[in-house]
Amino acid sequence: MDLKEIDKIIVLDFGSQYAHLICRRIREFGVYAELHPYNMDVKSIDDTVKGIILSGSPASVYEENAPLADPAIFDLNIPLLGICYGHQFIVHTLGGKVKRSRREYGRAELFIDDNTNLFKNFNGRTICWMSHADAAEILPDGFEIIAHTSNSFAAAIRKDKIYGIQFHPEVIHTERGTDILKNFVLDICKAKQEWNMENFVEYTINELRGIDGNVLCAVSGGIDSTVTALLLNNAIGKRLKCLFVNHGLLREGEENEVISIFKGIGIDLIYIDAKDQFMKDLKGITDPEEKRLIIGREFANIFEETVKKYGPFKWLAQGTLYPDVIESGVSKGPASRIKSHHNVAGLPSTLSMQVVEPLKMLYKDEVRKVAKMLGMKEEMIKRHPFPGPGLAVRIIGEVNEEKVRICKHASKIVEEELIKANLYDNVWQAFAIVGDDKAVGVLGDERYYGRIVSVRVVESMDAMTADWSRLPYDVLTKISNRITNEVEGVSWVTYVISSKPPATIEPQ
Ligand code: XMP
Repeated sequence: MDLKEIDKIIVLDFGSQYAHLICRRIREFGVYAELHPYNMDVKSIDDTVKGIILSGSPASVYEENAPLADPAIFDLNIPLLGICYGHQFIVHTLGGKVKRSRREYGRAELFIDDNTNLFKNFNGRTICWMSHADAAEILPDGFEIIAHTSNSFAAAIRKDKIYGIQFHPEVIHTERGTDILKNFVLDICKAKQEWNMENFVEYTINELRGIDGNVLCAVSGGIDSTVTALLLNNAIGKRLKCLFVNHGLLREGEENEVISIFKGIGIDLIYIDAKDQFMKDLKGITDPEEKRLIIGREFANIFEETVKKYGPFKWLAQGTLYPDVIESGVSKGPASRIKSHHNVAGLPSTLSMQVVEPLKMLYKDEVRKVAKMLGMKEEMIKRHPFPGPGLAVRIIGEVNEEKVRICKHASKIVEEELIKANLYDNVWQAFAIVGDDKAVGVLGDERYYGRIVSVRVVESMDAMTADWSRLPYDVLTKISNRITNEVEGVSWVTYVISSKPPATIEPQ
């Protein structure tokens, strides 16, 4: 099946933190959904597009410089669904009035006034999630109210194929949010459920077969780069070579796992043990950004040498995912530049390789499904994300052998205890942090001045925001006891209770 031809829903992004989430929810029930900027060229909307969703936004539709879509979208005769700001955009553009009203935030009871179409088979009332300060005051001509709350007389409106809802169906707190999206996408837009990972794999492998010349893929053992390599291996076999650089800042035992996985599959892996070089480069460096830049630079050097030695390579394969390609309104903000994330995009341009990104249509949960289909082991698929610069961003101050040993060992204990307590899969990341701070302890009868290890366990959907995990005290106690008993040189263990924002997930 040619994925370029399948039915799709377009989500116009007005800057909502939930824009990607709307796409993901729709894809979950098998319809392909794409995110586009709010001001996309309406002429580029072809007949594969079966419906358009207008996202929320922190802006107010009546303000100067408010993000506004081309009103020509109303002439396309394609079903439209406005969510929150999108709903207000419809009201404002078609001649109604939106104004600042009483802030409504959180759960609200939604009373259904018309249980057909968008609310097909809904009985009376349901719970929805509100987050707005503006609301429709006067509706444009011809619109009818199809649901209301005690605060919003027009919580859901409709005229022909145009729908507006004041609440967020994409967040889980809206009890029947998925049913609302399904009613819109499947019944009102009549989009076919053609998006699944079987189709994706078949289509992608076919496309990749068209690649001429040799491909180099840098792998880390993480799911994205491994799945990229697996797809390419299926498509072009021996014309693929993978490069795995061990900077000595990996998780305990990780290098051996990566080597054995690639050996097991039969993919050619160039393994570079550059531990000593990285340690030398990082000596005396305490600034977090400087550490990242040094690591990025060393990666680029090794990459260049590899290309010279094993090349020529016409292509560079990267495990870029959809959210990295399509930035949503919020991720364009300064927050995304708080830390310079190193990746292979920072490679010297002199290498003049073309980039192939087989996962660029996918979300992480979709990559996990592909990984399973291609035979990756469950433990690897479920392994927490790990930053490219590795333990260097979890070691505060200079990176040295003692701190690397403590960080690795203590992190292993954190992971082991979460697995034992059946909590590992419920959290986004779980690791230990070590710096130069010391505190007094007692070892036998002796006073002992050891390092402080901080344990960081966070819950998150996408790493853009995160909350510290409320782990049971007995799990924290076990982690703390084991770290002080088993990891030499540690006297105290602390637990990090900062959320993101204002903190970040990694300490450096
Ligand atoms: P922060 O610390 O910015 O992290 O809240 C958000 C997510 O990104 C990961 N992270 C990185 N990943 N290179 C990466 O490949 C990096 O330099 C990097 N820094 C942070 C982090 O583990 C978390 O999941």
